[in-house]
Amino acid sequence: MSTQNHWIKAVRCSDVPPREGRSVQIGKREIAIFNLGDRFVAIDNRCPHKGGPLAEGIVAGPEVVCPLHAWKVNLETGMIARPTTENSCVAAYAVRVVEGVIQLKMPLYSPTEITNTPACLEGNSPAAWSFGAGTMGEITP
Ligand code: FES
Repeated sequence: MSTQNHWIKAVRCSDVPPREGRSVQIGKREIAIFNLGDRFVAIDNRCPHKGGPLAEGIVAGPEVVCPLHAWKVNLETGMIARPTTENSCVAAYAVRVVEGVIQLKMPLYSPTEITNTPACLEGNSPAAWSFGAGTMGEITP
């Protein structure tokens, strides 16, 4: 299984307003990208509680409040901040901005290397990737 990371174009900065999140589909994974005002952060869009869409949550400091049952997820680490007794997490991705486009650093897996292990428990490993034509989703050096 490959563990090499790649920078992948995800979305234009201008498409993610300050203090809000937007979801993007990259391969078979849905990612929530947030604009914290001075930087962008990215985590998996699926709340580990019952799958709530984290990109639609309310940004509160460095955390997002899930819109379904108000769990809080730390946007830097992907760890659950509330409830404090919860030990689960979502994958958090390194982010960079190149020429106005947000890029995410992710390992690249072939479609035959699908795993059901939670991404945060195996080093932020996406299940599988398949890229179509177009600018976003493109792998960059
Ligand atoms: S689905 Fe997110 S808190 Fe329940």
